[in-house]
Amino acid sequence: MFELGLEGKIAIVTGGSDGLGRATAERLAGEGASVVICARRADHLRRAAKDISSQTGREVLGVRADVSVASDIDELIRVTVDRYGGVDILVNNAGKSSAAGLEETDDAEWQADFDLKVMGAVRACRQVIPIMRGRGGGAIVNATIIGGKAPPGKALPTTVSRAAGINLTKSLANEYAVDAIRVNTVCIGLLKSEQWVRRAGNKDPEELYRELSKQVPLGRVGEAEEYADLVTFLVSDRAAYITGVAVNVDGGLSSTV
Ligand SMILES: NC(=O)c1ccc[n+]([C@@H]2O[C@H](COP(=O)([O-])OP(=O)(O)OC[C@H]3O[C@@H](n4cnc5c(N)ncnc54)[C@H](OP(=O)(O)O)[C@@H]3O)[C@@H](O)[C@H]2O)c1
Repeated sequence: MFELGLEGKIAIVTGGSDGLGRATAERLAGEGASVVICARRADHLRRAAKDISSQTGREVLGVRADVSVASDIDELIRVTVDRYGGVDILVNNAGKSSAAGLEETDDAEWQADFDLKVMGAVRACRQVIPIMRGRGGGAIVNATIIGGKAPPGKALPTTVSRAAGINLTKSLANEYAVDAIRVNTVCIGLLKSEQWVRRAGNKDPEELYRELSKQVPLGRVGEAEEYADLVTFLVSDRAAYITGVAVNVDGGLSSTV
């Protein structure tokens, strides 16, 4: 018996209406957690929450929030605590690709990426950590990318924001281990999600995945559920001795461990 101990836990998954976040919300709800998801598009979010709820038989709450806006994060946490009485798990998953060369990126793009990927996680952690401490502990997972450890060229500003996310993870893991709050990061390579479907445009996304697969040692693009499995493990009781780690989920694509 491999009991994850997630029954009755209260979890927030940002960017939970699509792709990797949605797969994670499905896993956590399937394991008996009360799950709150947020995203910017309210109607799409509402439909996703309803669908996950009917698939898993658990209530899933959708709260419209843009994680790059401080007041939206305040509201997300407030609504979660009002509805469920606390927060045990936070998955800082919301994000989007922002990769170009230095001379092609202006200050506004750098600031927007930093607000989304760094300040979004900083603000959400600052809000939930006192709540977790009051409940005797908690678990946080920050989504980052393998390029945060080993950046290729022309992948700015995202590799810099993600390096900050990896550093933030270790820093918070060190600061809050004393409160039994674990903080880990999952470094993503290439995983199937709506962002690739959008990029494929009119083409079949499977064609794009076949093309991308050529870069990956394991010979395929990963499934959203493979990310969800790892995140679910990391926030579970089975990972109680794991904090401050950065785990690649990339089929071997990263040049670093
Ligand atoms: N899939 C990959 O291969 C890959 C590679 C590298 C990194 N990642 C990272 O993995 C995470 C999940 O990406 P994904 O591939 O699952 O993307 P996706 O399929 O596009 O899903 C993104 C989700 O995040 C939400 N979102 C986007 N911006 C947001 C914001 N400012 N505030 C709140 N919610 C927001 C979206 O909903 P709304 O649009 O309605 O807000 C959606 O629910 C992101 O951090 C992404 O950068 C993924």
